[in-house]
Amino acid sequence: MHVVVNMAASLDGRVAGPGGQPVQLSGEADLRRVHALRAASDAVVVGAGTVAVDDPRLTARPDPRPPREAQPLRVVVTSQPQLPAQARVLDDTADTLVLAGQPGQIAGADVHAAPGEAGVDLAQAWEELAERGVEDVMVEGGPTLVASLLAADLVDRFMLYTAPRILGEGPSLAAAFEGLSLELEPRTRTALGEGTLTTYGVPP
Ligand SMILES: NC(=O)c1ccc[n+]([C@@H]2O[C@H](COP(=O)([O-])OP(=O)(O)OC[C@H]3O[C@@H](n4cnc5c(N)ncnc54)[C@H](OP(=O)(O)O)[C@@H]3O)[C@@H](O)[C@H]2O)c1
Repeated sequence: MHVVVNMAASLDGRVAGPGGQPVQLSGEADLRRVHALRAASDAVVVGAGTVAVDDPRLTARPDPRPPREAQPLRVVVTSQPQLPAQARVLDDTADTLVLAGQPGQIAGADVHAAPGEAGVDLAQAWEELAERGVEDVMVEGGPTLVASLLAADLVDRFMLYTAPRILGEGPSLAAAFEGLSLELEPRTRTALGEGTLTTYGVPP
């Protein structure tokens, strides 16, 4: 399985605004790239924190838009097998799998239990994805899940879009990654829209 993390941050490393409120950091060019990357992935993964705040659809919407059967599997990691009933990730536009810390049922999603100390055992959760035939995984955050995946050595590539903004307040990568120490391998750096896309390899 090949796992790519994709995140966007401000110049001061923040991934959202004050109180964690969502901020649009990607411009149009980066959004097109994100949708193309989703379309090229077998699964798109977020944590429950991102569902609660951003309420993403997680479908691939490049132009032309792939049909439902070609949409990536939407995956949510959460310790409790519960999501808001109105969450967009539970709509019928694509399949959804909840990787939970305990067994349960959620209307509109499959639930797989992979209990672990921090909620979900992420290595076991990744095995479940592999068993479902998933080869290319795109992780779209948030910072808590990404930090856990990096700590568990479950990431191959890290893509960071840096927007030319300073937010001054809000959750940051520095805070989420505190205690981690990793040397990444710079691969590419590209000007994209008003920002910069940097890709790193994450060595084992
Ligand atoms: N700029 C970006 O690229 C980007 C991307 C995504 C999100 N965001 C922002 O990030 C903020 C949300 O951050 P977040 O860190 O709460 O989101 P998150 O990482 O998506 O979700 C964290 C949640 O994942 C669940 N989880 C279960 N097992 C886990 C494990 N082993 N390791 C880690 N997480 C596990 C937990 O949910 P339970 O409590 O249910 O167990 C945990 O609270 C929002 O402000 C959002 O706007 C920014």
